[in-house]
Order: sequence, then C-alpha cells, then structure tokens
Amino acid sequence: MKTGKFITFEGVEGSGKTLQLSRLEAELKKRGVRFLTTREPGGTEFGLEVRKILLHRDGPLREPTAELLLYLADRFQHLKQVVEPGLASGCHVFSDRYHHATLAYQGHARGLGFPVIDRLAEALELPMPDLTVIFDLDVEIALKRARARDAGEAEVWGRFESEELDFHRRVREGYRLLSAREPWRVLLLDASGSPDEIFQELLGVLKERAILD
Ligand code: TMP
Repeated sequence: MKTGKFITFEGVEGSGKTLQLSRLEAELKKRGVRFLTTREPGGTEFGLEVRKILLHRDGPLREPTAELLLYLADRFQHLKQVVEPGLASGCHVFSDRYHHATLAYQGHARGLGFPVIDRLAEALELPMPDLTVIFDLDVEIALKRARARDAGEAEVWGRFESEELDFHRRVREGYRLLSAREPWRVLLLDASGSPDEIFQELLGVLKERAILD
C-alpha cells in the first residue's frame, strides 16, 4: 500500500494554525481523504504527561537542554505510536507542530542553536516532513489572539505565552530562517488575512504539492 504524506503545521502561538487544521479536517472528511490529525507535545498518553511537565507555568526549573530532551521524548513516542503507523496504513498525517518547532523555540529562541537539534534528530532517525507549513504572523497580533483564546486556562498552562515579546519575536525569526534554509520543505504562509483567505491559500498549497486533488 502507498504510504501517506507527512505534513506539519507550525507558527507562533495565536498564529491560527490549530484553527486551520480543524477546518482542514472537515474539508478532508468531505472529500473522503484518508488522514489523521495529531499534535506535539501531547499526541499520545505518554505525551500528555510530558506536556504537563513542559507547559505548566509554575512547574519545576527546566534547563533548556532538559526541556529539549523532553520534547524529543514526546516526539519519539508520538512517531512510533501515531505518525509512522498512520503513514504506513496509507493515511496522510497532519501534525500540529513537530521538529521545526524545536528548532525555532529551543534552537533559535532559547539559544541552543540548530545544529545540536539536527544532530539529535539524525541520531534518532526522525523522519522529516514532506511539507511544513508555517503560519507567519506579527507576534503582537498573534499573542493578543492567543491570550484572548486562553483566558483563564493560560493562568496555569500558558508557560510559553507568558514569555516576553522578544522571545516570540525570536521564535518567528527562527521559523523564517528555516523557511530560507529548507525552501523545498518549509513554506511560509501569510497568516494575516481572514480565516477564509488563509484557508483558501492553504488548500492551494496542498494542491500544488499533490497532497490534495
Ligand atoms: P501548542 O500551544 O501549539 O500546543 O504548543 C505547545 C507549546 O510548546 C508552544 O508554546 C510551543 C512549544 N513547543 C516547543 O517549545 N518545542 C517543541 O518542540 C514543540 C513541539 C512545542
């Protein structure tokens, strides 16, 4: 059986990627496409536990490298339990975040650099996505949206959302560097338009890449 394609969605918090993924889900169902959607961190039971450690705002002290290794632990379990079996069964797998999030957040924004993350991914034989769509948006607009969305919940879980603006600017910059570094895989999508406009653009990209008819 033909394996499916592996597509990842990326962006700063509040960039609209999760909303677009849920719209895409409805569209793919309508078209009868075989697919599954998932996310990192937290795409497995193990990952949900790891997510709690990573994202609790008042959680324990987490060294950047310790944080990096937890994201990788989540990823490895997710890959073996969800992504690889999904692809092998012929489904397209759409993941809300993956490797490029680690490069942008831990590599660029936290300052660990891209090379160590690339080397670890290589050592763990992590497959790279067929396509990574980055929802690119001004961070001030994006964070306003994220904070409005998470009002209440963010008190406990919005660890990254509570980082200063400069951190999020570096995340965005990291993503932009990645789209220049891997233009064949990483596509920057302007996420400043209306949800309908962004969705049409997303469908266009998926058609161009022969993921949709
Ligand atoms: P989410 O809000 O999209 O569910 O993502 C959870 C948070 O984890 C978000 O702030 C981005 C962050 N993150 C990293 O810092 N590194 C990673 O490798 C991943 C997957 C997420």
